[in-house]
Amino acid sequence: MNITIVGTGYVGLVTGTTLAELGNSVFCVDIDDKKVEAMKLGKVPIYEPNLEEMFLRNIQAQRLFFTTNLKEALDKSDVIYLALPTPPGEDGSADLSYILKVANDIGEMMTSYKVIVNKSTVPVGTADKVHATISAKTTVEFDVVSNPEFLREGFAVEDSMNPSRVVIGCSSEKAKDFMSKIYQPFTNTGVPIIFMDEKSSELTKYASNSFLAVKITFMNEIANYCEKVGADVDKVRLGMGSDDRIGHRFLFPGIGYGGSCFPKDVKALIKSGKQEGFNFEILEATEKVNTSQKVILISEIEKYFDGNLQGKKIALWGLAFKANTDDIREASSLDNIKILLEKGAKIVAYDAIAEENIRKILGDTISYAPDMYSALEDADCLLIATEWSEFKNPNFKLMAEKLTNKVIFDGRNMFDLETVENAGFFYKSIGRKTLEKL
Ligand code: UDX
Repeated sequence: MNITIVGTGYVGLVTGTTLAELGNSVFCVDIDDKKVEAMKLGKVPIYEPNLEEMFLRNIQAQRLFFTTNLKEALDKSDVIYLALPTPPGEDGSADLSYILKVANDIGEMMTSYKVIVNKSTVPVGTADKVHATISAKTTVEFDVVSNPEFLREGFAVEDSMNPSRVVIGCSSEKAKDFMSKIYQPFTNTGVPIIFMDEKSSELTKYASNSFLAVKITFMNEIANYCEKVGADVDKVRLGMGSDDRIGHRFLFPGIGYGGSCFPKDVKALIKSGKQEGFNFEILEATEKVNTSQKVILISEIEKYFDGNLQGKKIALWGLAFKANTDDIREASSLDNIKILLEKGAKIVAYDAIAEENIRKILGDTISYAPDMYSALEDADCLLIATEWSEFKNPNFKLMAEKLTNKVIFDGRNMFDLETVENAGFFYKSIGRKTLEKL
């Protein structure tokens, strides 16, 4: 099938590459001509494990094309995916202007039947708005379908080639046939393709992300309570997760959730609810708890240094919002850096992948180390904000030599307590016993 993808951000690029890999001819459209030129030369604009290989393979096989010309792509395609940004507006509601602008353009340009597929995360009712926008411009037949993505950054290729499910909101039989055909390779491998109405599909995306945000936040509160009563959250987590109604995933406590999806989607669902006179109390609480969880270690760091962080040198391992991505959107590292700098501390950060993105925002307000051990040189303590696997089994002897004080504040529970205790460090993690100074 011939498919157009409008928007080559994270979702568009991964979706386009996946659809090409499934054997379709895919035309990726973007307004950024520099980006389009770079992609034509085989440059992947985002960091995502295993994406480059699949991207290059499909360019070479002449199934993946890039253009700034929407009309040209539209004319060649039956199905048009919209993968455009829906950033939160001032009030937290999703800004639909990019989507509706392209819908308007499609309405003006289309000359034959098209299936318009909405891949972006959008509030309930957006398919109707897209439909109305296109209808206002054309009498040509078309259908609008909702098909949310559930990709995790860092696992996008894996998730897109082995999805847990494909959700399709669609009320036209004709469009349903097109969508069934596109996802036929998945049906053959047993992936459930779940058809429903457009609104339920749109809500499924928000409900899934918000549920996961609540799950993490619930565990963060349990972790905080563990510290009060002397329980160990790692044990509680294992005990709880073994009930398959609960499951082990997304029960890892830490310094809060971040990224481009959870914070934005929780906010947008709260806002959509309010517009209908509905209060999502559980989501409001989740947002509040997460905001304080992100910086929960700051007071511990202050306590350790008797309330004075002026001139203290803090080594920071990890800047990305989670491991295996260069994405720093809503990263807990940023909240911690901001407060630590306000309190007069100096920061030496290390993150091999996300440093470049942090530099664009923070410039020289913090220093950057070329490797994890150099960051520790003469630092008063170490703070860990991202669970990169290179931090998992460090050389504690070398760490002790580099650090001025053997002190670790671990926002991602990277180490087992016994190992750190044997290495003789002060160690404060989340929801577990604090290992005091020897
Ligand atoms: C998420 C959803 O998982 C994905 O389905 C959706 O399409 C987009 O949003 P992503 O933003 O890539 O994906 O990140 P995810 O792996 O879900 O993690 C989100 C945040 O939660 C990260 O900050 C992570 O560190 C945190 N997290 C995750 C925890 O604190 N504990 C956990 O147990 C799991």
